[in-house]
Amino acid sequence: MNDYLNAVETSGLTKKYGDFVAVNSVDFYIPKGEIFGLLGPNGAGKTTTIRMLCGITEPSAGQGNVLGWDIQQDAESIKQNIGYMSQKFSLYNDLTIRENILFYASIYRVERAEQDQRCAELIGQLELEEEKHVQVRYLSGGLRQRVSLACAVVHRPPMLFLDEATAGVDPIARREFWDFIYEMAGSGVSILATTHYMDEAEYCNKVGMMHDGRLIKIASPDSIKEGLNGSLAAIECEPMLQAEQFLREQASVREVSLHGAQLHVLLTSKKEKTSLIKNLKGLGINITQFEFIQPTLEDVFISMIEQQQAMEQPAEKITECENG
Ligand SMILES: Nc1ncnc2c1ncn2[C@@H]1O[C@H](COP(=O)(O)OP(=O)(O)O)[C@@H](O)[C@H]1O
Ligand SMILES: [Mg+2]
Repeated sequence: MNDYLNAVETSGLTKKYGDFVAVNSVDFYIPKGEIFGLLGPNGAGKTTTIRMLCGITEPSAGQGNVLGWDIQQDAESIKQNIGYMSQKFSLYNDLTIRENILFYASIYRVERAEQDQRCAELIGQLELEEEKHVQVRYLSGGLRQRVSLACAVVHRPPMLFLDEATAGVDPIARREFWDFIYEMAGSGVSILATTHYMDEAEYCNKVGMMHDGRLIKIASPDSIKEGLNGSLAAIECEPMLQAEQFLREQASVREVSLHGAQLHVLLTSKKEKTSLIKNLKGLGINITQFEFIQPTLEDVFISMIEQQQAMEQPAEKITECENG
């Protein structure tokens, strides 16, 4: 095995498809034993980034290495030494849990003499003992994910890539799954996970926010939340659309976004609450709730994307200011 400080390092990593830039000069690194979360909406470039790091897709420009190996020169070494799990991880439906794990053990060339023991160990760790002789076709989504994880790490990879590995799984199963991931990182495994569930990002040492192929921010989940500039209010009111339009036009309002039945409104200061309530009521809007809340990562993410778009469209922003 190679010597390395950082499990992943990239510099200017880029992928183009014709004129379209799917991943745009991405720079980041993952220290050994840390969990890095790549967050972003569909089409942001998360899967393409992972595929380049796994040696499956060739970069158009830039560099990267994984476990000390160059992603272009040493793709084969990387493939043999990483674990990879996506939402579509293939399990064999007519094999039992135990048979699936043993099957992957032989694919990954785990020593024959060690296969049974490694399989038993994973069944214990991932709490699959009761169901180990059940055919995979009968398992719930959450259990399937755990079996997939067992198969993906059967060869004890020091680096694990999780690409939306918990998509479509219920929140309790997702939390259990992340508890296992957390334990693995504790034992020195480095992890790169993509997700669009913001609650999963809380498990990560660092989070990278991706949008339109670019990595727009990297920070710890807490510092990202603290970095939100202003006070966030959750407002419930009727009619909501009219309130939203009004709020967007106010100088004291930085951003407005819709969260279910609530408007999340980023105010320049908490002091603005009184005058906003008065003005909304003046328009005939009925307010049933107006309280300040802790921002979620999603709030910050939306805020960052809006700030970035505002910077990219200076002309539009000037018009907005003139009107306001
Ligand atoms: N093989 C390909 N050919 C052309 N475009 C692609 C290809 N693979 C991905 N893309 C495009 O690159 C962008 C990023 O895709 P992807 O990395 O899958 O995003 P994410 O995983 O964040 O949803 C998308 O717009 C997608 O359509
Ligand atoms: Mg994807």
